[in-house]
Amino acid sequence: MATPPFGCFDVIRVMAALRIRALSIAVMTSLGMAKGSYGFNMVAGVHDRHVEKVLVTGGAGFVGSHMCVALLEAGHEVAVIDSLENSSSVALDAVAEITGQRPVLVVGDCRHRSALDQVMSCMRPSVVLHFAGLKSVAESVVDPLRYYRHNFQTTAQLLAAMKRNEVFRIVFSSSATVYGDPEVLPVSETVQTQPANPYGATKLLVEQMIADVVRADSRWSAVLLRYFNPVGAHRSGLIGEDPTHPPANLMPYLLQVAVGRYDALPLCGTDYPTPDGTALRDYIHVMDLAEGHLAAMEYLQGASSGTYTFNLGTGRATSVLELIGVMREVTGLELPYVQHERRSGDVAALWADPSKAKRELGWVANRSLADMCRDGWAWQSKHPNGYCS
Ligand code: UD1
Repeated sequence: MATPPFGCFDVIRVMAALRIRALSIAVMTSLGMAKGSYGFNMVAGVHDRHVEKVLVTGGAGFVGSHMCVALLEAGHEVAVIDSLENSSSVALDAVAEITGQRPVLVVGDCRHRSALDQVMSCMRPSVVLHFAGLKSVAESVVDPLRYYRHNFQTTAQLLAAMKRNEVFRIVFSSSATVYGDPEVLPVSETVQTQPANPYGATKLLVEQMIADVVRADSRWSAVLLRYFNPVGAHRSGLIGEDPTHPPANLMPYLLQVAVGRYDALPLCGTDYPTPDGTALRDYIHVMDLAEGHLAAMEYLQGASSGTYTFNLGTGRATSVLELIGVMREVTGLELPYVQHERRSGDVAALWADPSKAKRELGWVANRSLADMCRDGWAWQSKHPNGYCS
């Protein structure tokens, strides 16, 4: 049998079994690509592509798992490092079911140098997609220090490990929350950043840290992707968003009303200065978002050293009531809601000007709101209790 690409992960697994704790690492699954030396050679239509070895931090989470599907389907090699603190290894089993290839999963925390060094020296990635981090706005308000420490240390350790292992390309999962409550809409990348909560402030801090590292050493290049509101799921319904309870965000809450876990959606704010009184957002299908990362990776292959920032959104503003309406059509369910006061820290309207991504990355979000609702429903109806179902 041909040598598998990640053969030395076996060594890590043995060491983990022997409880060599200094590694802080365990390999849960590995060598899904052992069928041939490079599983991607089997994928039709990708022979002329530039194949990347991609390390995905936080790859078992909502966006990360969809990213793994997009990467594997595009013929790239994938390894995931994830602490599984807020995610499930079952997501990667489902990724394997969808793509026929299982990404290597290293269970480890990016704040631990040994875990990062092991995965990097074994895989020798050409690029890192960085999703790992804490992401609840509400939690960040209650415990800002935890958010600053965690999100800062995770990225600082990751960048140091990349430098030690001579990996100089990174795509960072940032957020439109860095814009706060902008005066001009739609919001473009040049608008003044002014995050309205500690979570957003940590995203901006990490953006600045990456940009400084790139400025200091011309071997580096980085793309910062500012996501608007990622929702939906892979069309198979095999992977999706599995939030903590009760869900903090609109779409997962609505889907859980649809499966009967909650009686009604709290409609947070009905007196905004918008056409129907509910807040406007730019919802983007998670697979469109994943494809935006593929475009960013390709862009970095040809780019000179620098830090490049792009909005990933559709450019469409949708109210909460409009989203409920589309979800009702898709599910055929009543989906009750109850009026509730505004959530503190919410802004009335935030949507993207995605023209820079179109112009420079050649990327646009293609999927409709109905696609987002249909695919989200495919996931939730198959998994009423998330990955535990
Ligand atoms: C939040 C984060 C954002 C993050 C995104 C992930 C902020 C302020 N928030 O965005 O960084 O990327 O989640 O998807 O930066 N709503 C209800 N009922 C609910 C939940 C939400 O009516 O039970 C309303 C909210 O008031 C808001 C809209 O739905 O108007 C969208 O909320 P949500 O899905 O939480 O996203 P954001 O707050 O926009």
